[in-house]
Amino acid sequence: MSRLYVTTPIYYPNDAPHIGHAYTTVVGDAISRWHRLRGDEVFFLTGTDEHGQKIQRAAEANGLTPQEQSDQYSARFVEAWKALNIANDDFLRTSDPRHVGPVTKILNAVHDNGFVELKTYEGLYCVPCEAYYTEDDVPGGNCPIHGRPVEHMKEENYFFKLSMFEDRLLEYYEQHPDFVVPEGKRNEAIGFIKQGLRDFSISRTSITWGVPIPWDPAHVTYVWFDALTNYLTAIGYGADEVRFNQWWPHVHHLMAKDIIRFHCVYWPAMLMAANLPLPARIHVHGYLLVGGEKMSKTRLNQILPGDLSDEFGVDGFRYHFLRDLPFGPDGDFSYEQMVARYNSDLANNFGNLFARVATVVGKKCNGIAPAPRADSPLAAAAAEVLVSTDEAWRRFAPSDALEATWRLIRETNSYLEDNEPWKSEPGQEVDAVMGDAAEALRIVALLAQPAMPSICVELWNRLGLPGTVETTTVLEDARWGVGIGGNKLTKGDALFPRKS
Ligand code: ME8
Ligand code: MG
Repeated sequence: MSRLYVTTPIYYPNDAPHIGHAYTTVVGDAISRWHRLRGDEVFFLTGTDEHGQKIQRAAEANGLTPQEQSDQYSARFVEAWKALNIANDDFLRTSDPRHVGPVTKILNAVHDNGFVELKTYEGLYCVPCEAYYTEDDVPGGNCPIHGRPVEHMKEENYFFKLSMFEDRLLEYYEQHPDFVVPEGKRNEAIGFIKQGLRDFSISRTSITWGVPIPWDPAHVTYVWFDALTNYLTAIGYGADEVRFNQWWPHVHHLMAKDIIRFHCVYWPAMLMAANLPLPARIHVHGYLLVGGEKMSKTRLNQILPGDLSDEFGVDGFRYHFLRDLPFGPDGDFSYEQMVARYNSDLANNFGNLFARVATVVGKKCNGIAPAPRADSPLAAAAAEVLVSTDEAWRRFAPSDALEATWRLIRETNSYLEDNEPWKSEPGQEVDAVMGDAAEALRIVALLAQPAMPSICVELWNRLGLPGTVETTTVLEDARWGVGIGGNKLTKGDALFPRKS
């Protein structure tokens, strides 16, 4: 058995989550569910990043204290993830004492190891990014990510000596070609390092909403130093070393490219400075765009997950984002494309296959699924689909994984069309074809379950199979012929009503 620790970014609770946040979270959830199905031990973490100026300002604008702002908006993320059937093992809030305490441990470690220095910072700062910029970074005085003016700032700050890590980081990247994937994003990270690294401030004195610096409490910890550390504190860093050491070597971080610099440059250097091992892998995806622009709270072009899940169902929502937005490149959100994909893959291919099988089994097999044949023409396809689906999920490629699974749906539909069991008299031949088709559906319900948990639970029940596909099956059960027939099918309403 192997272990997998999957993280999403911890999101800012300055506003409610939109489908950009949902994208990363659904991908993390589906990958985690796949690995649980494989029998791996999985820990899937998400949460909210609550300290700093951005939240302090959002709180002021809403007439709340920063803690109230965080409580109310963090709850919006918890609710949204519940509604999308996200099975996270933990939800970390950076204002939680279990995080605040251990943050001081890494600060002290980095300080004791000689990587912290007191200096005066004078320069530019973007509050929406909570990041420092140089004149060269901000053509026209606007932040490259948010397109809004950066602010001038002068403060005495503690600095993390990032400049000392250029060579060590480049060497690490060289020796670990898969440290950051996909390759384009890896090259971007290496590009940042090669441009030359400047020390960055890790404390602020002008704000109070944060973790006090242990050796100088007039300062609070800079948000990113605090936020990145969530990946350690959630699994027991500074509190339960045994648990921490069990999970940390298996961590895979997921995020979009907006925060590549923090995760692929700052974070590995911070870990090196604290004598901690680096993450197993960092997976960076592109932006979800609307009309060619990044969807963001700052640009006010966000679409809320509920807007779409009400219409397409939670599983239809999850399927669209997993299947249609390959992990890596940017992708434009298109309502028309979402409808088209829903109709073709879900209503037609998947939904129709089940409806056909249930109808013919109802009419010609007394509603009882016949046994599959060991030498079925579908058996080889099913075996290949199992291997290719597993391979793609393990590569963190949900779109490829679903494409692989859908091959079995398509082949089963063609098999039915070739044999036309609806035209034949009841008997051995119909039983043979329908037993094979029901077995293929059983395997599809199992393989599609990490992407679409609720509909697959429903399908499993309608197939009359024992247990719950979400909790009582293992990947081994997806082998051809594990289903033995004799189960009673229930047709019910369309699994995926067609959209016009
Ligand atoms: O950056 N397309 O939080 P955040 C794709 N608190 N993904 C998107 C997206 C889009 N248009 N918009 C948001 C922060 N995301 C920090 C993180 S981690 C230690 C601290 C997703 O609320 C994507 O995962 O701005 C992106 O990296 C993240 O939300 C940014 O969330
Ligand atoms: Mg952001």
